Amino acid sequence: MANPLRPAILAAARSPRMKSAITHAPGTRSLVTRFVAGEDRGAALTVARALLASGRSISLDHLGEDTADLGQARATVAEYRALLRELGDLPQARAGEPRPLEVSVKLSALGQALPADGEAIALEHARVLCAAAEAAGVWVTVDAEDHTTTDSTLSIVTTLRADFPWLGAVLQAYLRRTEADCRDLAGPGSRIRLCKGAYREPGSVAYQSAGDVDASYRRCLAILMAGQGYPMVASHDPAMVAAAGDEAVRAGRGPDAFEHQMLYGIREGEQQRLADAGAGMRVYVPYGSQWYAYFMRRLAERPANLAFFVRQLVSR
Ligand code: FDA
Repeated sequence: MANPLRPAILAAARSPRMKSAITHAPGTRSLVTRFVAGEDRGAALTVARALLASGRSISLDHLGEDTADLGQARATVAEYRALLRELGDLPQARAGEPRPLEVSVKLSALGQALPADGEAIALEHARVLCAAAEAAGVWVTVDAEDHTTTDSTLSIVTTLRADFPWLGAVLQAYLRRTEADCRDLAGPGSRIRLCKGAYREPGSVAYQSAGDVDASYRRCLAILMAGQGYPMVASHDPAMVAAAGDEAVRAGRGPDAFEHQMLYGIREGEQQRLADAGAGMRVYVPYGSQWYAYFMRRLAERPANLAFFVRQLVSR
């Protein structure tokens, strides 16, 4: 069921007043831990090790976005470099297999929105991360943010792929442009994570009904599966998980030629079921103290998540 409160919750995700109220509400933190591995790297690595031991792959995300300060962007780069050094000690893939270790990064956390030269700064910061990831045997995928950043983000990814051909990008099926982006980016070696999209977008650029978004997701999936890249199917929706399996069979892809992806704390049983059945299953594991916007997007996705949150608050 679509969440009728989604637009209001996504608006609150951008509101400093709501941020302060919700962050300091009693009990919020214990709920946040359902979706966020912890506030520091050590907690994230503990979760990562357990997931790897269970047969799942990981993508670690240091939470933070919309950085308006160069120092903060540099601190984010330093945190990712420290994370990549520690990830380099974890078990690696055999040659030719999908890498079990990945980090995800938002370019807005690397300075993309800085007023002077933001795009160039984010590009250089992302290049530093890619070089560190290459040395550690870890993949990088660049998250998708709101539609005003899509051109800049895809241009940065395209530039970096000349040196780091394994660099992944996220495409959002709710954007009307995405089918065309899938066609452009389904070439050899291209790693594309397809998600539905989590931001509040106007009808001029994004499908608004759940049915239209799902139909777009299926069309995009068919393009990516028929293409020559490596599709990463990021959805908890049983219908999309099943569609991915069907499209993979139609395209003659084996289990190593695409993967499922889900968020930490969501449909844990289904994650394990897919991994046990031999499918590629990667879990996106966010950590860090800047969890507010990420947490609000999770609440906006499902009435049940919001109801759970409200019940916990009022029962205190
Ligand atoms: P959706 O929320 O439409 O739910 C459909 C159905 O799935 C539900 O009706 C239910 O059956 C099932 N379901 C969903 N949640 C469940 C739960 N908690 N328990 C049981 N069943 C549940 N977005 C973005 O804009 N930019 C990005 O970079 C990313 N990155 C990203 C990475 C990864 C790995 C994932 C999985 C997702 C993202 N997203 C994202 C978020 C994405 O755009 C989207 O908002 C969420 O995944 C929710 O959409 P779903 O496709 O999962 O199903």
